[in-house]
Amino acid sequence: MSEVEQYSLFDQSAFNQSKPVQFQAEQIPTDAKIPIPSGTYDSMESLAVHCNSCQRCELGAKRINAVVGRGNLNAPIMVIGEAPGQNEDETGKPFVGKAGQLLEKIIAAVKLDSDQDIYICNMVKCRPPGNRTPTTQEVEACKPYLLEQIRLVDPKIILFTGATALKGLTGEKRGITKIRGEWREWEGRLCMAIFHPAYLLRNPSRQQGSPKWLMWQDIQKVRAKLDELCS
Ligand code: URA
Repeated sequence: MSEVEQYSLFDQSAFNQSKPVQFQAEQIPTDAKIPIPSGTYDSMESLAVHCNSCQRCELGAKRINAVVGRGNLNAPIMVIGEAPGQNEDETGKPFVGKAGQLLEKIIAAVKLDSDQDIYICNMVKCRPPGNRTPTTQEVEACKPYLLEQIRLVDPKIILFTGATALKGLTGEKRGITKIRGEWREWEGRLCMAIFHPAYLLRNPSRQQGSPKWLMWQDIQKVRAKLDELCS
């Protein structure tokens, strides 16, 4: 399909309808220059089908699985990480390696249920080679999927774990150390940046003021805010 034909699929009049527009996955543009408008996907399943055939950036060529997300599709809390690693690429599920196990412990420590209360996903859906940080181009190519995931899940709270998701979505340039633990609003949604669990694995101290100690403060704030919003 030519680029012009692909663009015409997204004739804006199609999006003035209230119901999502149905497209065959193979008709949806794979070129990163072509936008994926809000409302394209009517379910996470159809989004996942497209992610698994996506070639909007070069990461698509090497993936085993696109890693879309896991957890409750109606969860009140959405956790957004950076990108899949090897375990995630192999299983198609985010945060299933060591960092994921620590994330599970952190969630469980404040009696949140990762199957009920949380939906976990990443800024970028395919594994960057050698687990390098995704490039700006890769983040931009993948961003429409994440925006659609946020629309579909419609979480009350978004947690950015690590700088990639925070910067990629909000454009925030300050580092996580500066702004973690602060409530902020993005696109009308309540958000907080928290340390990435992989960073906590590299910094195991639990002393007051250490990254792990700070994470404990932050996750308790999240629990308290959820209780407040649900009361
Ligand atoms: N780190 C991430 O940011 N995401 C994963 O899915 C796994 C490790």
